[in-house]
Amino acid sequence: MSNDKPQAAHGKALTATIIVIALILVGGFTYELGRRAGIKEATGGKATSQTVQSSAAKGGMKRVGILQYVSHPALDQIHKGVVDELKKEGFVDGKNIQILDQNGQADQSKLATMSEQLVNKKSDVLVGIATPAAQALANATSTTPIVLGAVTDPVAAGLVKDMKAPGKNITGVSDQPPVAAEIKLGKQLMPQAKTVGMLYSSTEDNSKSQVETATKAATELGLQVKKFAVPSSNEIAQTVQVMSDQCDFIYTPLDNTIANAMPTVTQEANKKKRPVINSVDTMVKQGGLATIGVNQYQLGIQTGKMAANILKGKSKPATTPVYTFTTGDTIINKEQAQLLGITIPDDLMKNAKLVSTEVGKQ
Ligand code: TRP
Repeated sequence: MSNDKPQAAHGKALTATIIVIALILVGGFTYELGRRAGIKEATGGKATSQTVQSSAAKGGMKRVGILQYVSHPALDQIHKGVVDELKKEGFVDGKNIQILDQNGQADQSKLATMSEQLVNKKSDVLVGIATPAAQALANATSTTPIVLGAVTDPVAAGLVKDMKAPGKNITGVSDQPPVAAEIKLGKQLMPQAKTVGMLYSSTEDNSKSQVETATKAATELGLQVKKFAVPSSNEIAQTVQVMSDQCDFIYTPLDNTIANAMPTVTQEANKKKRPVINSVDTMVKQGGLATIGVNQYQLGIQTGKMAANILKGKSKPATTPVYTFTTGDTIINKEQAQLLGITIPDDLMKNAKLVSTEVGKQ
């Protein structure tokens, strides 16, 4: 605006004010995202193209959009691993990159809106933590690179066609646990067990494929399998009560809904002294009996590394194989074992890491 033409300047100022107000209204939609990421300008509206904006236009900074499905101890550790590793690779939030951080709180419509926002904000790379978050991101873009953060079965979830050659804009980390070994561990700890109940959510693709594998493994060991798929977290307490009457032990896959409600699962199962075998150490520390699990923080580190390589232009999702873990640690909750009156066999004791209940104590 020039100072030597006050009239014209006044007119311009008015127009500018109107534009600013309009922008504020349109931008309201994206305000929350901008606020959390510390971005001052509201870019408003839906972007017409999904091409990656030059980093110069973003103040020289690349953007990483992270969408976490929900908060539970395992996903929170993965998230921390991602951010820590990006930093280690030289990408520091607020310094040379912007991290746009979103948590869908297990709400499908929030996940869809947040995914759109992260794409419209021209993220250079997107990270989806847990299957439903990764699926929401995949629905929002077919061009922006997406790194899967701990997706159990990317093929079954419809995210990649081939684990070795993803072919499109998606690659990342799969946390498929050693399911057969976990069921075997249950049988070793409860040699008398005849029936295992599978507790999982009917809405999570990650659980469906894991339950199939677990069912096969349990059947091969001569166990009868009963499946209990809950429609939402509201049914968990009652379902665990029914399972405790019908099954000798309970098995949980890497299910976010169940992970989020693990203190409730423990509380109900303990009433009837029913052991719970999990697929992750964080749930064992919340009152499960045992697992063979992959370290969650390490999953995050690996995810962060893959995101960093994409930011550096070193790799492309289409030609980067999905990373899988082959080993896991045997974790046993000794406090739970004692409470349930279970003796841990010597050969298991030798290799197991013993933990106590840390969270979810009432
Ligand atoms: N693998 C899960 C998915 O695909 C996400 C996940 C990672 C998870 N760690 C977990 C779920 C621990 C439950 C517990 O969605």
